[in-house]
Amino acid sequence: MQASVDPSSASSAELPAEEREREVHSDAAYAKLLARLSHQSVVKRFEAYADVPWDDPAYALDPEDPRFELPEFEPLGATSWYRALPAATRARLGAHLFVSFMKIGAQFENALQRGLLEYALELENGAPEFRYAYHELIEEAHHSLMFQEFVNRSGLAAPGLPWRMRVGARRIVRLARRFPELFFFFVLGGEDPIDYVQRTALRDQQLRHPLLRRISQIHVTEEARHLSFARAYLQRNVPRLPARKRLHLRIAVPLLLARMAGLMLQAPPSVVRTYAIPRAVLDEAYRRNPRQRQRAAESLRKLRDLCVELGLAPPPFDRLWKRLGIWA
Ligand SMILES: [Fe+2]
Ligand SMILES: [Fe+2]
Repeated sequence: MQASVDPSSASSAELPAEEREREVHSDAAYAKLLARLSHQSVVKRFEAYADVPWDDPAYALDPEDPRFELPEFEPLGATSWYRALPAATRARLGAHLFVSFMKIGAQFENALQRGLLEYALELENGAPEFRYAYHELIEEAHHSLMFQEFVNRSGLAAPGLPWRMRVGARRIVRLARRFPELFFFFVLGGEDPIDYVQRTALRDQQLRHPLLRRISQIHVTEEARHLSFARAYLQRNVPRLPARKRLHLRIAVPLLLARMAGLMLQAPPSVVRTYAIPRAVLDEAYRRNPRQRQRAAESLRKLRDLCVELGLAPPPFDRLWKRLGIWA
């Protein structure tokens, strides 16, 4: 189905804080929120092979297309090392970064979909989350199809997550049944930073290639619902957890978020190796770049505010956030 995409309206699934508060604390209002999100999934949805004009020549994917070149305000794009590369290599490296993030995105969504199935399996008849969870996993399946198609058409190598993290993803899947609150923090940890990056890129017109822009617009629009649900779920359920599980969240959540933001905001090792990016350049772009720290903290701002609101980052636990460089 073809629906118009307006990334600026994507946040319409989100509500003012007060209204959200009322929504999540009464059963009827919570069910109404989920029914509304589910309805949105019927009337404003996208299909990977119907809503992206893959074979339109204007959308053809050539990794050396100058429109893939990193802009100067991108951390790696700002380095003199990058600016001194030949034009075709600058474009190819930029395309390679997008391809790598899409591969990692598809692998993250794979764990997310499996987790949603685990979560749905345990729900009682009549639970409003059941329908919502299935809509979300169908949407994630279409996102993964778009991402993988983009990777395949680029012809660039993208190994995705290292083996250790792919094995770790299995543990996350099991969490959906045993400790769904931590699972939904994992979901937000993957979705919120990438949502921030895509929204900023769309707003600042950084995505000059139409294929990239179309995929990002579709993703941002549907992710707004996923973010709304995960936040409402956590606002409703975290306060009901026993002290032991809340302590677990206070430690595990910042560690998880720092790791996930790092994955989505820096060049992955495979790209570093392919282009032999010197260590000093990586330091300049990422590790010793105050703007990059600010970017990581900003991409997690909404999540950090949620943790503060839920009492998951009181002193001395805020020190862990600061140490990880993800506090404002
Ligand atoms: Fe997605
Ligand atoms: Fe999502």
